[in-house]
Amino acid sequence: LAGADHKGVAMTVNESADDLVFNPFDPDQTRTSWEKLARMRRECPVSRPFEHFIYTAKYDDSRDVFRDGRRFFYGPSGMRKPGTDVPYEERFLGEIDPPEHPGLRRLMHRFFTPAAAQAEEPYTRAYVRRGLEDLARAGGGEFRQSFSDLFPIAITAHVLGMPTEHIDSLTRDMVDIQDTESFLSGNIGVVDAFPQLSAYADAAIDERLAADEPPDDVITAMLTTDLEGGRMAREQARTLIVNLLAGSTSTTATLDNLVYRLASDAGFEAALRGDRALIARAVEESLRLEPPVLFLFRQAKVDTELSGVPVHEGERICMGIGSANRDEERYHQAEEFRLDRRGEPEHLSFGWGPHLCLGVHLARMEARVMLEELLDLFPPGGLALAPGYQFEFMPGDFLRYGPHTVDLVVTETTR
Ligand code: HEM
Repeated sequence: LAGADHKGVAMTVNESADDLVFNPFDPDQTRTSWEKLARMRRECPVSRPFEHFIYTAKYDDSRDVFRDGRRFFYGPSGMRKPGTDVPYEERFLGEIDPPEHPGLRRLMHRFFTPAAAQAEEPYTRAYVRRGLEDLARAGGGEFRQSFSDLFPIAITAHVLGMPTEHIDSLTRDMVDIQDTESFLSGNIGVVDAFPQLSAYADAAIDERLAADEPPDDVITAMLTTDLEGGRMAREQARTLIVNLLAGSTSTTATLDNLVYRLASDAGFEAALRGDRALIARAVEESLRLEPPVLFLFRQAKVDTELSGVPVHEGERICMGIGSANRDEERYHQAEEFRLDRRGEPEHLSFGWGPHLCLGVHLARMEARVMLEELLDLFPPGGLALAPGYQFEFMPGDFLRYGPHTVDLVVTETTR
């Protein structure tokens, strides 16, 4: 994500604070610099770590950039390397600005409401049960490989109406083949980056185009809704289908962060067992403190300012989600994982405003159902970290915040 172009050139707006230079593209810094970020929030909340590149460390500034589409937009490069001009049909929903974005979002949103997520719960629960029972039968295993990499993609594939018999192979392809690096650098398009996924998307499109009565689902809606410029091109429908499948992979980090906490913190496990209503809160608190996506970008549309710091048209803004979510002006004991938060604003982990994550209800439901089923299948202490397990962050990825692996052992089950 735009990283290579920025590496190395460093300066801050607050030149007296050289030790506050922060490089968001360095994974070691983004995941471990919480003290430095706390100082940045106090001393230089809006900084310029590289030329034409602004970093917002505080909640209010970050949220303002997310929500103010008049001053900040994606621009021609979308979320990819600056200078890349992404063709319209190749853009993910999050990379499309008005006037096209609202109409596209509206047609997809109908399938991603809280009610739609609720309707998906029985399928999700059955999927989770099967996966956890397999894990138990094997006596444990690596959680990401055996479960959390596949699970969110499988549920999205089901929402998309992909044939159930394809879902397993589709999810495995997704995990194996994605070449996000070349994709984000703008060197290749959707079909080259995600060949198998694109083929599944094409098959789903063909099926609906050929059907006399296509199902009432999001893919049919993409193909049949009249938008301002006419019907959606099939290339764009393919991109948006791949987008939904690829977008779901963010959920994996939250699932891993939660299962790691459950297996390593007996107090956390006991609290959830004592009051199941806390499960939904645990999901939110994990999202706040351990956001799967640590930051995102926009571009300034006009000359403007953020907390008094001038921002020039064309400059890139990096909204520090991870830092904003720990803003002590917004959250009491912001660095602590707490299940008793009240009256504090919602975290920015799903973004805010016009591009708020479309999968927000689905992701929350998936994480909650996973915790519920874990508590049902394993008695207290029945699931634990494998002996000698050492926490490591996902390697090489400066954006994601979650463990590389979670090695588990199962000692006891309830059924
Ligand atoms: C814990 C899990 C997830 C996290 C943390 C997450 C995070 C985000 C964030 C931060 C954005 C805002 C992008 C921006 O403003 O630039 C976003 C947008 C989006 N997400 Fe998610 N996401 C998650 C799960 C999902 C799932 C399960 C799906 C698919 C079903 C999905 C599909 C999308 C789409 C399509 C957008 C673009 C929305 C738009 O631009 O209108 N996400 N996500």
